[in-house]
Amino acid sequence: MTVKKEQIYEGKAKKVYATDDPYLYIVSYKDDATAFNGEKKGQIAGKGVINNTMTNIIFALLEKDGVPTHFVEQLDERDTVVKAVTILPLEVIIRNVAAGSFSKRYGVEEGTALLRPTLEFSYKNDALGDPLINDDHALALGLITEEQLADVKKYTHKVNEFLKAFFLEKGLKLVDFKIEFGVDNKTGKVILADEISPDTCRLWDVETNEKMDKDRFRRDLGNVEETYQEVFARIKQ
Ligand code: TMP
Repeated sequence: MTVKKEQIYEGKAKKVYATDDPYLYIVSYKDDATAFNGEKKGQIAGKGVINNTMTNIIFALLEKDGVPTHFVEQLDERDTVVKAVTILPLEVIIRNVAAGSFSKRYGVEEGTALLRPTLEFSYKNDALGDPLINDDHALALGLITEEQLADVKKYTHKVNEFLKAFFLEKGLKLVDFKIEFGVDNKTGKVILADEISPDTCRLWDVETNEKMDKDRFRRDLGNVEETYQEVFARIKQ
């Protein structure tokens, strides 16, 4: 059995621990929630349990669909064994419908359907506020190689196609999402890491358009815990 050794990293929503195996980590999901680069802080009771389990369900399905992920084995409600990776410092976002920073930046009403799935990158850098970055910038700064970039784009579009259908079956519209990739410390290959959860996706109820994700926390819309529970209940079906 894989057991936790020393903590090697603490992020806003998860802690990462070393294990006996240098090629395996344990991630531990917290209930902590932040928004606006950590300016807004809070807790969403039960979020860690939901995001851990939901991510693992989705990652297992993505593996079958041909997207390699860091998922190895869920240990308990909050803890999961994952492959040790070095995270690429790019947040990869796909938008199917205009919302959030896209709507603000380009003056497009939230809810406007986009003519094609739109991929964008943010440079993972808290000090800079995770700025938008393009392919050339990322390559010029040595944040990613051309080969890794090609893999990241190919996998991300695949994840989008999978998730759109997956969530639609649960009565949820996938507006947009953010994922992160890492380089597997053992194989050197790019694999999907981090999480896929209501923290990292915008999900709107297909019937009512009600927001069913972390925007309830970001925008003080209320019923935050209840909404996470509702999404989880639909995913487990
Ligand atoms: P945005 O519209 O604020 O740029 O967000 C796009 C998507 O990325 C949305 O699904 C929320 C998600 N997201 C994160 O997962 N982490 C973040 O730090 C931010 C800003 C957005």
